[in-house]
Amino acid sequence: MTDKLIIFDTTLRDGEQSPGASMTKEEKLRIARQLERLRVDVIEAGFAASSNGDFEAVKAIADTIKDSTVCSLARANDRDIARAAEALKGAQRARIHTFIATSPLHMEKKLRMTPDQVYEQARLAVRYARNLCPDVEFSPEDGYRSEIDFLCRVLEAVIDEGATTINIPDTVGYAIPELYGEFIRTLRERIPNSDKAIWSVHCHNDLGMAVANSLAGVKIGGARQVECTINGLGERAGNCALEEVVMAVKTRRDYFGLEVGIDTTQIVPASRLVSQTTGFVVQPNKAVVGANAFAHASGIHQDGVLKARDTYEIMRAEDVGWSANKIVLGKLSGRNAFKQRLQELGIVMESESELNAAFAKFKELADRKAEIFDEDIIALVGDESVTP
Ligand code: KIV
Ligand code: ZN
Repeated sequence: MTDKLIIFDTTLRDGEQSPGASMTKEEKLRIARQLERLRVDVIEAGFAASSNGDFEAVKAIADTIKDSTVCSLARANDRDIARAAEALKGAQRARIHTFIATSPLHMEKKLRMTPDQVYEQARLAVRYARNLCPDVEFSPEDGYRSEIDFLCRVLEAVIDEGATTINIPDTVGYAIPELYGEFIRTLRERIPNSDKAIWSVHCHNDLGMAVANSLAGVKIGGARQVECTINGLGERAGNCALEEVVMAVKTRRDYFGLEVGIDTTQIVPASRLVSQTTGFVVQPNKAVVGANAFAHASGIHQDGVLKARDTYEIMRAEDVGWSANKIVLGKLSGRNAFKQRLQELGIVMESESELNAAFAKFKELADRKAEIFDEDIIALVGDESVTP
């Protein structure tokens, strides 16, 4: 098994399925360029058969992007697959991602098909896709709630037909980390030809566990591709967040032992671009990309970070694209943090007693005002002490 973890970004497909997150072709192209700068391995650009607009967007991305594989989703039927192949014609590296639901609930109530019909359709879809494209991913939709014997039968058949990636969606975010990890491991152990494909995880966040489930699928199940979106964008409660999964694998390389090809300094620019484009605001306490992710407000933490950053930081803000970490001055801040900010602002204190007096004024103001900005400090100590 390889030690490379493939990052498959589906911001432009599953992310776009988030109500209100629909994007124009130009917007998608701009985000695709940023995803390429981020060095994601696969960009799922859209669902070419879903509309003419999405066909054009997938085509424009396929014609432009050089360094990442460009993928289109397609239902398991000839028309969708042919449309995906057509949109991807100009790509340096293309992937067709075809899917059909395999859970009893979806087959009976949604597809109104028998398991045998679904089995046959999955097999024929992958066979057709493989005739058009050497890189074919198959997803059994609602895979995690599927009956395991049936799922093994379908997956063995599609691997025989040439599927190169097998993706196991937790479509409704129902999984629990250990159980999902073991589910993937069981599938890989029970399917005789399982090592002919790369195994992939695709987790939704309905119970807030998309990242944990994906990581369990990697660690316990042996998956080597994670499907994710920038800022965890996606239908309902969203998908697995790319920035979290990537930084978890990098920061805890001691545990995962895997390489990711991502240029992490492009994470915050990607987060900003997706947020601005969709209008979906990133919550301040969001891991990695939230405004407070590297901000320190309490005096004890500020003092620790000023002495040695790793006292309270497990990652560097600069490594994920922030210009620096942030010491937020407020009522919990200590003298050390205040002194440091004065120095950064070029404010010279002639003596310890002058510093103490300024700090007392600062504390008094901080009791009345939630956050103290640089302008407040300059006003507090008087312009005359700012060096020219
Ligand atoms: O969540 C899901 O099941 C999907 C598939 C189409 C892969 O997005
Ligand atoms: Zn999904």
